[in-house]
Amino acid sequence: MQLDQVMNERRSIRGFTKEPVTRKLLEDIISLANRAPSSMNTQPWHLHVLTGEPLEQVREGNTKHMLEGVPPSREIEDYAAYEGEHRKRQIEIAVQLFEAMGIERHDAERRQDWVMRGFRQFDAPVSIVVCFDRSLLDNTIAHFDTGAMTYGLVLAAWSKGLGAVINGQGIMQSPVVREVANIPEDQVILTCVALGWPDEEFVANSVVSRRRATENTTNFLGFGD
Ligand SMILES: Cc1cc2nc3c(=O)[nH]c(=O)nc-3n(C[C@H](O)[C@H](O)[C@H](O)COP(=O)(O)O)c2cc1C
Repeated sequence: MQLDQVMNERRSIRGFTKEPVTRKLLEDIISLANRAPSSMNTQPWHLHVLTGEPLEQVREGNTKHMLEGVPPSREIEDYAAYEGEHRKRQIEIAVQLFEAMGIERHDAERRQDWVMRGFRQFDAPVSIVVCFDRSLLDNTIAHFDTGAMTYGLVLAAWSKGLGAVINGQGIMQSPVVREVANIPEDQVILTCVALGWPDEEFVANSVVSRRRATENTTNFLGFGD
């Protein structure tokens, strides 16, 4: 696939087939993502790739904690609720997803189901927990670097026919993930990526999220036109 096709067609995938993903394929994707640029080539990221029993343990722990009302516990400073334009875009994508799934605005049960699905990482066969060096916790460049690598990861996955969704929901109960994956104390959990073979029947997978036009994000200077 050409890069522009991969970048244009990639979208978040939230429904997967049961087909496993081989370790070899994951290694190939990760080695591509590892080519990401980073500040002074510091490469602050670490990945923990879970499948099978360990991933089931994370799903069960997350679900149990959420149902018991344990407050979310993240390892990076969490954003406050989005406001203004950001809030509008957040609502827009939620509406697109719920419409595709046929979930009505007042259907509390199905909305809750959808949220719980997120905490189970959309039942994906693989979860990649993305961490970075704790010594760089206050250095926001490390977040930038690790984000760049993560985008590379989902693009590389897409180019090989795999689908993925970067998601905060899967690490919302980070102590569970830390314990199951045995994440060393000198690493901080940033996010995770649920990954697998896209289920073509799962309608939310065809949702194409909207973007601002380039003219609304970009200021060109000195071009004379
Ligand atoms: C840091 C980050 C966290 C995200 N967390 C979630 C999540 O918890 N649940 C979810 O369904 N999608 C999550 N997403 C996916 C976004 O909703 C998605 O990227 C956005 O709506 C644009 O859609 P697209 O990826 O299909 O282009 C997250 C994406 C990023 C980059």
